[in-house]
Amino acid sequence: MILVGGASQRMQDQLAEVFTVHVLPQDAAGREAFFAANGENIGYVLSSGHGGVPGTMMEQMPNLKIVSNYGVGYDAVDVDTAVSRGVVVTHTPNVLNDDVANTAVMLVLTASRNFLADNAHLMAGNWPKGAAPLSQSIRDKTVGILGLGRIGMVTAEKLAVFGVKIVYHTRSERDVPYPYYDNLTEMARDCDILISIAPGGASTDKIINRDVMDALGPDGLLVNIGRGTVVDESALIAALQEGRLGKAALDVFEDEPNVPAALMACPTATLLPHVGSATVQTRQAMGDLAVENLTAFHAAGKAVTPVPECQSL
Ligand code: NAP
Ligand code: 8YV
Repeated sequence: MILVGGASQRMQDQLAEVFTVHVLPQDAAGREAFFAANGENIGYVLSSGHGGVPGTMMEQMPNLKIVSNYGVGYDAVDVDTAVSRGVVVTHTPNVLNDDVANTAVMLVLTASRNFLADNAHLMAGNWPKGAAPLSQSIRDKTVGILGLGRIGMVTAEKLAVFGVKIVYHTRSERDVPYPYYDNLTEMARDCDILISIAPGGASTDKIINRDVMDALGPDGLLVNIGRGTVVDESALIAALQEGRLGKAALDVFEDEPNVPAALMACPTATLLPHVGSATVQTRQAMGDLAVENLTAFHAAGKAVTPVPECQSL
């Protein structure tokens, strides 16, 4: 089998009990040489969310059986090509919901209460010169969730204790105790805070565009904990610089780990380096599940958590 992108030592030790583990070279020449020598022998892949398995890579492994994605988001894996080749793709749903939802809530509070600026005010020795500016309470604010799925639902439940009103937008209405919007821009117009926890991919590419940002408005807060590709990042930077959008609090970006300097220079931006699930406990649970998908498939030909598109394979 091959590792594409990072894997913990725990994961590598577990895999080595069952498989001969190769780490795919990072450079193009190294990869070409590796696949030329070993491509036909590779049946199993473990891919970190950042590594990715494009269709062109799958074609270099004609006997590939399964791709285990170390993360719940699998937009870096060409699932259409996988299905056409009978390759099962798996992911790690649910085991990360709590920490990711906690991160969304903390981004809402950190940005709404200006805590990073308040910390900088104190650390710069400015407190004796005067108090930090007042911030915003979130009580009675309307929070719109784009992508009310597993993590979105946990986020909504956690936010309930803060006295906010929850509304949501998805492609299809759900049986949940929150008002549904079938139009994202209309929801943004009625929200104070918009949280995106939708997956990456063609259907969400840049759907948080200038119209949505203008609808959210100069007092609005955009939180993105899903995928950076869901937001038109250039339009976001312009909206923040021109004051058409109040604040942004982001854990994900279009071209990770590269974040535009103009975005990093925005005083109204709160930025994290894609750490929603980055706790020891959650990453261990994700890793154990990513490995279990491979070992279970190897033992009995059945994965534990195949992605929806592969559940009939
Ligand atoms: P999930 O249960 O599949 O929920 C995804 C939700 O998004 C669903 O409610 C889906 O509803 C909605 N959605 C999908 N496409 C949409 C579209 N075009 N327009 C509107 N809504 C759309 O997934 P999850 O487990 O909650 O994870 C969600 C995503 O969070 C992952 O895919 C990943 O990208 C991201 N994530 C980030 C981190 C981090 O560290 N920052 C950690 C974990 C996950 P409909 O199908 O009805 O539209
Ligand atoms: C991880 C994530 O950053 O699960 C996801 O979709 O975005 C995060 O949990 C990543 O996937 C781990 O490689």
